[in-house]
Amino acid sequence: MITTRTFVSVLFSVLFLSLPFSSFSQSPPSNAVYNSFLKCFSKRTKSPQTEIAKNVFAQSNPSYSSVLRAYIRNARFNTSSTPKPTIIVTPRSDSHVSAAVLCSKPLNYVLKIRSGGHDYDGLSYISDKPFFILDLSYLRDVTVNIADQSAWISAGATLGEVYHGIWQKSKIHGFPAGVCPTVGVGGHLSGAGYGNMVRKYGLSVDYVVDAKIVNVKGQILDRKAMGEDLFWAIRGGGGASFGVVLGYKVKLVPVPQTVTVFRVEQYMDSGAVDMTHKWQSVGPKTDPNLFMRMLIQPVTRKKVKTVRASVVALFLGRANDVVSRLAKEFPELGLKKENCTEMTWMQSALWWDNDENATTTDPKVFLDRNPDTASFGKRKSDYVATEIPRAGIESLFKKMIELGKIGLVFNPYGGKMAEVAEDATPFPHRKKLFKIQYSVNWKESSPEIEKGFLNQAKVLHGFMTGFVSKNPRNAYLNYRDVDIGVNDHGPNSYKEGEVYGRMYFGNNFDRLVKIKTKVDPGNFFRNEQSIPTLPGKAE
Ligand code: FDA
Repeated sequence: MITTRTFVSVLFSVLFLSLPFSSFSQSPPSNAVYNSFLKCFSKRTKSPQTEIAKNVFAQSNPSYSSVLRAYIRNARFNTSSTPKPTIIVTPRSDSHVSAAVLCSKPLNYVLKIRSGGHDYDGLSYISDKPFFILDLSYLRDVTVNIADQSAWISAGATLGEVYHGIWQKSKIHGFPAGVCPTVGVGGHLSGAGYGNMVRKYGLSVDYVVDAKIVNVKGQILDRKAMGEDLFWAIRGGGGASFGVVLGYKVKLVPVPQTVTVFRVEQYMDSGAVDMTHKWQSVGPKTDPNLFMRMLIQPVTRKKVKTVRASVVALFLGRANDVVSRLAKEFPELGLKKENCTEMTWMQSALWWDNDENATTTDPKVFLDRNPDTASFGKRKSDYVATEIPRAGIESLFKKMIELGKIGLVFNPYGGKMAEVAEDATPFPHRKKLFKIQYSVNWKESSPEIEKGFLNQAKVLHGFMTGFVSKNPRNAYLNYRDVDIGVNDHGPNSYKEGEVYGRMYFGNNFDRLVKIKTKVDPGNFFRNEQSIPTLPGKAE
């Protein structure tokens, strides 16, 4: 006898299972998809459907919207016209992740993997093809082992939770990763990850010693089982092309009992051009214990449009030492002892997150995930290998005043970064002087305003062409930017992938393609900027 459920499954198989990725002009009824997925998921996890339904959300579920929005970190992709997933799965265990992969595959939906949801262009939770979201936010364990100075950090944990977990166990250990505490481990580490200890210690991925991943067959693999090629790829090549990263085992790094932070600002009419120009020869070359980020922002001051340049710094040492060092190396900065504050490394993490009371705030605030909070924003990136001449800095400032809003962040390299081989991980930009982030945020929900700000980003990126690395121009994967190319995963997939792939990975792109072709020949793990398979080698 044919039950309704069997009928739905059979109908589903006949209609949809053989459709290629690009042929989804009409999507199947979402309740049929939901029922089919739920049945498969329940069978594979050996849990009753009623229990499993709490972690598998159809669009009709009253919690669907709040689950979706919780980790949308860019309001540009939180509008009524933003494409929505047919199903959201929030796994509670590794075997749930494995089941989610195996149950999505036959349905031929795109599976978007989301950890912290900070992808600047929303690739972890939007798609123009029918899709599901696998949201790992419940897989957030952080297990710190001070005895061997390591930690297992789950993909769905935030960087704030990682820092807090380390701080609870030790006041003299830290981890070199990003400065925003709500960024997720899954995206951050699979895309390389850097923070204000990058000159002393390099990238987050330089400290990964093991990992766990669910592959396209639903198998859970550690470093030994996945092999060195795949282990290499998921340390900077973007996890989403290769599988679902469950977590990383990382080595901790030593930090001093006392560190120093400071912020110094100058304006265009009072030294900002000279300071920015000189910064290029000091920031990437000074003591690796010193990280000086340069923020450049058009502002209105005393009713006059100008540019403010701010140096925001972390020194892994005492205030007196950094003040005397910079008096010699960087007099244009004019650093004074009263600009500096000494504090613990954990407090410095709070300070870098714009907490003015960092020395008195309870670090527990890093456990607050602030779900469903986001402004509108756009980011782009570039790398600089040769110093920009003073006249170039001056013309840049004038251009920024003309554009009005878009700002730049210069992040110095050198130190440890320059010591690591360009093919040690997929991240190739090790020898550059500094990275540029183009940054614009706004609060108004208006397509016209958005168009204007996106255009400012494009114009400034165009303006910088003569000053930045070229052939190919470079970009940082974790500063996702779909303007540099997207992949439709049709017959031109390799060519399309090469455009953004060479910008993100340089010559490491070729190795990533080979690994991708080997571990996921059917290209199940894909997004708008994933690694393509080799032409003619795909399933
Ligand atoms: P999200 O969940 O959106 O994932 C990003 C990408 O990784 C997507 O393609 C997604 O599919 C994939 N992915 C996520 N989890 C995965 C998993 N478990 N397995 C496989 N693939 C997975 N960067 C930096 O290096 N230093 C910094 O200081 C900062 N600061 C910063 C501040 C703010 C406010 C934002 C919004 C972003 C940053 N970033 C950053 C960039 C950040 O590192 C980058 O966006 C990360 O990819 C975000 O990781 P999430 O897990 O939060 O994002």
